[in-house]
Amino acid sequence: MLDLPVAELLHTSFRQSALAYGAVLSLVILAIAFRKSVLPYWKFFYACFIKPVNHGNAAEIQSLSGQQRALEGFYRTQASIYDATRGTLLRGREDMLQLAAAQLKHRYRGSGVKPIWVDVGGGTGYNVEKMNSFVSVPQFFSAVYVVDLSPSLCDVARQRFSRLGWKNVHVVCEDARTFRLDSVTDVESVAAGGGGGDKHRVKADFISMSYSLSMIPDFYSVIDSLTDLLAPLGLIACVDFYVQSSSSYSLRNFTGGHHSRHVNSFSRVFWRSWFQLDRVHLHESRRDYLEYRFGTILNVNDRNYLLGGIPYYVWIGCQRTATCGASGALVRQVAEHIDALATESPYLSPVHYAEKKSEAEDAAARETRLQLRSKGFEAAILNLATNVPLPSFFYQNQRWRLYYDESLQKHAQFGNEYIYAFTWEDPAEDQRLLNIGPDDVVFAITSAGDNVLNYALHRPRSIHAVDLNPTQNHLLELKVAAFCALSHEDTWKLFGEGRHPEFRNLLLNKLSPYLSSRAFQYWLDNTSTFTSRGGLYETGGTRIAVKLSKWLFRLLGLSREVRRMCSAKTLREQRAIWRTRLRPVVLNKYLSYLVVANQQFLWRALGVPTNQRDMITDDGIAASVASGGAFSAKEAMWKYVVNTLDPVVENTLLRDSNYFYRLCLLGRYSEECHPAYLSKDAHRILSQPGAFDGLRVHTDEFVEVLARIKPETVTVAVIMDHMDWFDPDGCQASQEIRAINKAMKIGGRVLLRSAGLKPWYIAKFSAQGFRVNMYASTWICKKVSADPTTSTVDSDSEDAEVVDDLEL
Ligand SMILES: C[S@@+](CC[C@H](N)C(=O)[O-])C[C@H]1O[C@@H](n2cnc3c(N)ncnc32)[C@H](O)[C@@H]1O
Repeated sequence: MLDLPVAELLHTSFRQSALAYGAVLSLVILAIAFRKSVLPYWKFFYACFIKPVNHGNAAEIQSLSGQQRALEGFYRTQASIYDATRGTLLRGREDMLQLAAAQLKHRYRGSGVKPIWVDVGGGTGYNVEKMNSFVSVPQFFSAVYVVDLSPSLCDVARQRFSRLGWKNVHVVCEDARTFRLDSVTDVESVAAGGGGGDKHRVKADFISMSYSLSMIPDFYSVIDSLTDLLAPLGLIACVDFYVQSSSSYSLRNFTGGHHSRHVNSFSRVFWRSWFQLDRVHLHESRRDYLEYRFGTILNVNDRNYLLGGIPYYVWIGCQRTATCGASGALVRQVAEHIDALATESPYLSPVHYAEKKSEAEDAAARETRLQLRSKGFEAAILNLATNVPLPSFFYQNQRWRLYYDESLQKHAQFGNEYIYAFTWEDPAEDQRLLNIGPDDVVFAITSAGDNVLNYALHRPRSIHAVDLNPTQNHLLELKVAAFCALSHEDTWKLFGEGRHPEFRNLLLNKLSPYLSSRAFQYWLDNTSTFTSRGGLYETGGTRIAVKLSKWLFRLLGLSREVRRMCSAKTLREQRAIWRTRLRPVVLNKYLSYLVVANQQFLWRALGVPTNQRDMITDDGIAASVASGGAFSAKEAMWKYVVNTLDPVVENTLLRDSNYFYRLCLLGRYSEECHPAYLSKDAHRILSQPGAFDGLRVHTDEFVEVLARIKPETVTVAVIMDHMDWFDPDGCQASQEIRAINKAMKIGGRVLLRSAGLKPWYIAKFSAQGFRVNMYASTWICKKVSADPTTSTVDSDSEDAEVVDDLEL
């Protein structure tokens, strides 16, 4: 018999060991049961974290040297499981392929040309097989070359393409530094793109690099070689890890936007050291050099959150000189052309000098050529002089979005958010008053872009859409891109219903070739705008009003009544619901005091600044005094809301008119009630090629843009209620009216609306060469003479002279 303590000890230790053995046994059983799925990860773990990088006793490895030996030592044990284990780690590869496929389709559609693709550091050929989901690899490309230095990864790639039976895909086991297309292609059979002195005679139309740049030690040499390998109008794409601090890139204007690029110091140190263990280099110099040697078309910064937030980027670029899409013009010429679009100045192409002689003489005589340079042109000239690529706006496929400096506080103040997700003003009313036609040059506020699209339906010669908030212009760009790339059905889902479950796919595959880099970054970061339940119309500043009314009606059990009112077939029915059920809540005096009279709400939710609020309340107080009453500011605001809403619901049927109100109440348009640009007919007009050739989207203040537009060219300016924002004691209104007068033709008209009954600045229009007429709450100021309050037109500035004389 054992004595008690010993028995207890044995019992306890048996219990503990049983637990430990049980756990080990369970692991073994689990590992056996799931060995197929566990094994690749074990091999991956072993190769990446346990096995020394250089280790490799196999004769094949021993026979290799330099980087190839190190690579093979790393990849040999894991070549067969490479694809199974890289899906989560190498994020963004599919995005890069989709973006590149969209650009390539955009360039080669209908051209009959089949491009050549070189995938540098292509490994197992994963990219090429994946690309087939976006564009048919055997049919679209004349030849594809997967270039990789690791023999075992190349073997996997060869097996892949023999399985797929793709005869146009070739695997080349070679160092990217020495790779030449000339040596692997039949030079005679391929149209050589370059001249005699080139290192590469045969050029690639598309080059891709996914997570290879960070593994190539001599990256300068490879990138230099790629600039030579890429055809003059070719496309290059890269996805890779990176780390970078904002201090090193913030002053550059050629990177296509800096959104989310900064990586904090802890992550910078951690990820760099971590990846260095596997000879993967995240230092910023690789990405910087790529952006320095090529022009940037699109640039995206993201994080792999599944693996702790590893920073990576996706970049699409082109030759620095390829600023013109397909025409091959010189960089300086393109800068001049874009400048002419922005300023309404004639484009004085040296190539077409003889044809343009009279235009040139005219311009010289009027001395406008030297003084009117867009900010984009000035930035381009500076970049050319300092030997860096042009700002990314010059490499876009489309010309409408113009350069702006995103680092300025005047743009950053909006916090990367638009205020208006939709536009309040009624463009049908504008058209009735303005009768915009093909000879018009329109100057308009972008806001949510709805009005600009309505003006575009009348095909004016040009439209200058202006907004200080970059994101309002991103919204307009998205709408324009939708007309260029999408069916009416998709466009309706996006902007009629405000929701599209496939928005991310559409953005990458169809919309991206029509967007500027910054607009693309913005929308990629905000795909939830269209995929969330609330949709587009519950985003931006205006969402506060839309959501508030939705929750209020829900809380009071009135949501059904709202729907009933919006679908009422007669005014009688509509009025009845309004008067008995909704009006008592919506126009409740105390609710108005609490919400609508609150300045924070007015500005954030409705975009009504203090000066405009004061105009409303001053009018209300004056009216009550005139009738013997004494309104407070809050009462005056409430009265304004009553006077605005009552007539709408009493006199117009919400079922098919006043789509803004319907949108606020229901969060979407309907087939019977929507802005004109969303109809099928409008889609037919706006989706025609060249429909937006006359559009220029400026991100700046009015005065800044007007000052750089050729004098006496604008025929119509629609400035909405924007002058209400100015301080009556300041000089901004006068400055702006003067700038409008200078840019406007005699007979040109300014259309403005105001929340005030008789806006204080109307007198200034009269004093500065305009005749003023009023239509309901809308004012039309017609230019009848040059501004008598200014003396002479500015003479050419010295700066402009210097800029123009630069030898490039
Ligand atoms: C992380 S892997 C990426 C492979 C593949 N692009 C992908 O996305 O799955 C990096 C690849 O770069 C290749 N590589 C590294 N240095 C190279 C060089 N100097 N020349 C060619 N390939 C190289 C490696 O062999 C490896 O296949």
